[in-house]
Amino acid sequence: MDVKQIYKDYEELKNQNISITGRVRSNRVGKAVSFITLNDGTSINDLQIVYKETISNFESAKLARVSSIVEITGQIIVTPDKPQPFEIAASNIVLLDQAVEDYPLQKKEHSLEFLREIAQLRARTKTFSAIFRIRSAAAFAIHSFFQKRNFVYVNTPIITSNDAEGAGEIFAVVTENNEHKLTSDFFDKKANLTVSGQLNGEAFAQAFRKIYTFGPTFRAENSNTSKHAAEFWMIEPEVAFADLDEIILLIKDMLKFIMSYLLDNYIDEINFLTEQNNKELLSRLKSIVDTDFATITYSDAVGLLQNAIKNGHNFEDNDITFGTDLKTEHERYLCEEILKQPVFVTNYPGDIKAFYMKQNSDGKTVAAVDMLVPGIGELIGGSQREDDYQKLMERSKKFNINTNDLEWYLELRKFGYYKSSGFGLGFERLVMYLTGTQNIRDVIPYPRTPKNLLF
Ligand code: 4AD
Ligand code: MG
Repeated sequence: MDVKQIYKDYEELKNQNISITGRVRSNRVGKAVSFITLNDGTSINDLQIVYKETISNFESAKLARVSSIVEITGQIIVTPDKPQPFEIAASNIVLLDQAVEDYPLQKKEHSLEFLREIAQLRARTKTFSAIFRIRSAAAFAIHSFFQKRNFVYVNTPIITSNDAEGAGEIFAVVTENNEHKLTSDFFDKKANLTVSGQLNGEAFAQAFRKIYTFGPTFRAENSNTSKHAAEFWMIEPEVAFADLDEIILLIKDMLKFIMSYLLDNYIDEINFLTEQNNKELLSRLKSIVDTDFATITYSDAVGLLQNAIKNGHNFEDNDITFGTDLKTEHERYLCEEILKQPVFVTNYPGDIKAFYMKQNSDGKTVAAVDMLVPGIGELIGGSQREDDYQKLMERSKKFNINTNDLEWYLELRKFGYYKSSGFGLGFERLVMYLTGTQNIRDVIPYPRTPKNLLF
């Protein structure tokens, strides 16, 4: 029997005897009765154990310290007038393993900053139990969504020679010989960790029409912010024959599916995080299910931000004109203050977006979309891909891309390539949004950020 199941079936299990093994969260020894709060890992909820002097092994039970492992045998008692719906009246408590006295998690609540320093233990807290369970469930929901729609899951390479985004924020891959000398002999060319599986994914979309990737991604962005990690997970769907509007629709359907799945299956975790992390979380998740989201062009976004400045709003960076790469403060102000909802911004200037994006007929903008959400800013980046070989070549050269190495990708345009569109969803940013967490370091089990490679 596990705690998850007991919470589900306690009414039928009423007055039955059960046996359960778990970790002690607290042990309060009283004169008449004593209490153990037990967590067995299967649920965000704890079991309340009540025990008296008369039980077997009382002497060792009362010594069980925080984080010790015990096996409890007892009866399920339904307790309608207490905070928890039921408790276990123990008849026997076996101390299976005693923990040391200075176990680091002694308090009921610790700061997220403190817990980051003990990432090997933090998943045992209620907050991280909720966050990482939702992370797992969101991954499952994403796979379900795409599998149900007949998308093929593709594992694109982690070691590659391309910098798909052309931003030069790559980690090199080298080998180390016996003398600790680093060389790039292994592949006999420059190699790096992938920043995006998109280019390989596009080739597969030409074969399967609808594909998605879901894998680790690496960026050596030297920015110590609350939403950048050096190692993060990305979901990249790619749909052949689809244009930008179809991709925006796909994003909406995907987000609604994920929210509904979590609200149906993980309401305990959401309620807990709403109380603990972010008071607006539950209503935010519910609203996504029914909303249509706002869509504006980049030009309009710039106009709205200029207006805000005119009306007295002060950004750290007030220099916003057509061509400005919007910063997080601008993105957040747009969706939090001006539009008050998640927003799709389309048709960015070509100069500030990646080489592969389709040039619009205005000669200035590309068919790009960023989805901005309150609390974070950019959650998703996507585009329709340039389908004209010549134009793609020209743009690649303009961005100093090594076209020889990428010919396999560029020439896909010659072999029947009508349209193709896709997007990248940063999985950690999604989990931040789904859990109301403010720092990316708290939604990935072991975060990798500049000057930080512990665990
Ligand atoms: O906007 P990006 O750079 O787009 C791409 O990589 C395209 N190849 C996607 C595509 O069209 N297939 O990255 C996509 C998303 C961002 O919107 C953001 O959510 C996330 O990846 N992301 C990061 N997340 C955490 N840490 C970082 N350093 C991130 N960089 C990007
Ligand atoms: Mg982007």
